[in-house]
Amino acid sequence: KKGGFAHFMLKEIFEQPQAFYETIRVGVDDAVRKVIRSAEEITLVACGTSYHTALIFKYLAEPLCNIPIRVELGSEFKYYPPPLRGLVIAVTQSGETADTMAALKMAKAHNCPTFAITNVQGSTVTRIADTTLMMRAGPEISVAATKSYIAQLAALMQIVNIRCDGAFDDMLAHAHLAIDEVLLQDMADAVALCRTAEHVFFVGRGPFYPVSLEGALKMKEISYIHAEGYAAGELKHGPFALLTPETPVVAVCPPGATYPVMVSNIKEMKARRAPIIALGVKGDSELEEIVDIFIPIPDTHPMVQVLTTSVVLQLLSYHTACALQCDIDKPRNLAKSVTVE
Ligand code: F6R
Repeated sequence: KKGGFAHFMLKEIFEQPQAFYETIRVGVDDAVRKVIRSAEEITLVACGTSYHTALIFKYLAEPLCNIPIRVELGSEFKYYPPPLRGLVIAVTQSGETADTMAALKMAKAHNCPTFAITNVQGSTVTRIADTTLMMRAGPEISVAATKSYIAQLAALMQIVNIRCDGAFDDMLAHAHLAIDEVLLQDMADAVALCRTAEHVFFVGRGPFYPVSLEGALKMKEISYIHAEGYAAGELKHGPFALLTPETPVVAVCPPGATYPVMVSNIKEMKARRAPIIALGVKGDSELEEIVDIFIPIPDTHPMVQVLTTSVVLQLLSYHTACALQCDIDKPRNLAKSVTVE
């Protein structure tokens, strides 16, 4: 069943180019297109990993689509609802998460048009939402979400693409090739640093901030190492107190507007003697020189870098959890779908 892989999680990590490609290839129907084109305001509601893809969407879509986008946790929405207007999108792999369902029902009761992004045909969310966009990850067995995260990003990037009149057609059609390139990345040095750590920080800016949140969630979930995701500029507002030579910081640092300020953040963290594992584009010798471990990612469109860096962070957690002999596919205290509020 695991197709030669040691765990379902690793198998599913390797299925990600396919999950992304299939979601893009199948595309969207006219009903979806119409709803997305006419939205004047979007609220996304989700939990856990799905909440992180929703946050990434906000960073990618808001500047390109010029509409306000809110992202809410399912568990908060019902009790502290945002303004109930505009399109409400539930992002949920299983289509069953109780908090996300409760939020979507509430939005519907207030006459908001409702929309679902899910991996499971016929799931509860598809019966609540007016419109559904299916992601094509295939069944996900491992408790930790990997290929469903990437397929959610495919679905959400498609929404951005619809709003931008197909400006990203070409990029989306080829993004799976870049994901493929990072799957065999050697993580041994980074794992050696993380496996003995009590705390690991993950930092990034812009869309790479929620990428960092997801990196930290995966690390906690499967390796049981305490990890925190932070917007890189925020570490100096408190968490610096925790930096020691035993506290690795994983910095997601691709090129772009925030690159120079990321580099100066990394130097500040080095000055506090924290070992730095940096993800940067291949050939970035400036970055490679100042960090302890450099992990290269392909030099691609920034949206594709969201995918490749996320996959590298999944591999880091996976290989760290393997080194610690954790029960990777069934982490303690967790279930695949959370059906209580
Ligand atoms: C983490 C993980 C969970 C889920 C969350 C929401 O790896 O899998 O955080 O993302 O329970 O699940 P769905 O997307 O099914 O609503």
